[in-house]
Amino acid sequence: MRDAFVKPLLEWYSENARDLPWRHTTDPYRIWISEVMLQQTRVEAVRKYYRRFLEALPDIRSLASCPDDRLLKLWEGLGYYSRARNLKKAAQIICSEYNEQFPADQKELLRLPGIGSYTAGAIASISFGTKIPAVDGNVLRVYARMLCMEENILLPAVRKKAEADLERVMKILPEAGIMPPQSQEENAAGCFNQALIELGALVCVPNTAPSCGICPVKDECSAYERGMTEKLPVRIKENGRKIVKKTVLLVQTVDGTAVRKRPARGLLAGLYEFPNEDGWLTSEEVIAYIEKNGYDALRVRPLPTAKHVFSHVEWHMTGYEVRAVRSDGAGQNKDWIFAEAEQLEELYPIPAAFSAYYSHIMYVKPADRADNG
Ligand code: ADE
Repeated sequence: MRDAFVKPLLEWYSENARDLPWRHTTDPYRIWISEVMLQQTRVEAVRKYYRRFLEALPDIRSLASCPDDRLLKLWEGLGYYSRARNLKKAAQIICSEYNEQFPADQKELLRLPGIGSYTAGAIASISFGTKIPAVDGNVLRVYARMLCMEENILLPAVRKKAEADLERVMKILPEAGIMPPQSQEENAAGCFNQALIELGALVCVPNTAPSCGICPVKDECSAYERGMTEKLPVRIKENGRKIVKKTVLLVQTVDGTAVRKRPARGLLAGLYEFPNEDGWLTSEEVIAYIEKNGYDALRVRPLPTAKHVFSHVEWHMTGYEVRAVRSDGAGQNKDWIFAEAEQLEELYPIPAAFSAYYSHIMYVKPADRADNG
């Protein structure tokens, strides 16, 4: 990798960097929260969560002592809840072992739960000015195109090579790099990493749409030179995901909609969900299921299908809205909690996997339900 791309890249970044909330700070706590949120979520969506999260939990200590339900509620909608749990675990370690001070050292950062080489690189460079790269999917794409590299970028060896190459380039960064306007401190390492991320997000975008015409580093880009940008990078995924069929039920009584807490271990542990059963149930099977749980179904209405993709599993869901009353016979299922829409929103963290069904109840006013009951 030639070094000549660095200057035009930093110049471009200084003029084109988006004004994002986490670019007004070098506080490692804030950088960490933003980077973890950004791992699986789009920038525009993160803005809102970032602000709300930091208002509620402004420092490491408040995160370390935050009750799980409150933390998961703050994270609700971002998905991948293990990220939130790891944040809290890491915050507890930083409080107990590092006197509430974020470690600056990459190796120490890598010891913390949920911090891998990308996040460690981002925190170390943006907050502490350390010259180590932060290689995420955006950066790998830029790198593969610049080198016209046809290897599979999902292979760990390719990432390692990118990290080694970029680290070498960073070592030659001038002490005072070219700064973006909103940067408060001169930090060439942080700017360099963010500039590569930004280039990948705004210009060197995936698939057939890169805007090579406006790219500041096209003269240094081998894929551009060889007309290969649209074919790169190569990503070969081994999709070993399991498909699980589910039926999700919005069971509604005069007391609201039923939710239950998920088990303390495993997928989406400790979050709340609408009652659901594996497999796709017919309406007759739904009526029988409702009865088994101590309710009589007055009306059963099918809802659209929905899909949610986790890292190892895909849920292929169908659903029913069930208007129900307590039955006189069998006892009611004690795990079912009935709550109105406002209570659901305030008290029960329901993962994004159920959002297709969650949004459905948000549109059905209690008064309408009572009329139909
Ligand atoms: N994606 C990952 N990290 C980012 C950052 N710091 N700014 C914008 N997008 C990002």
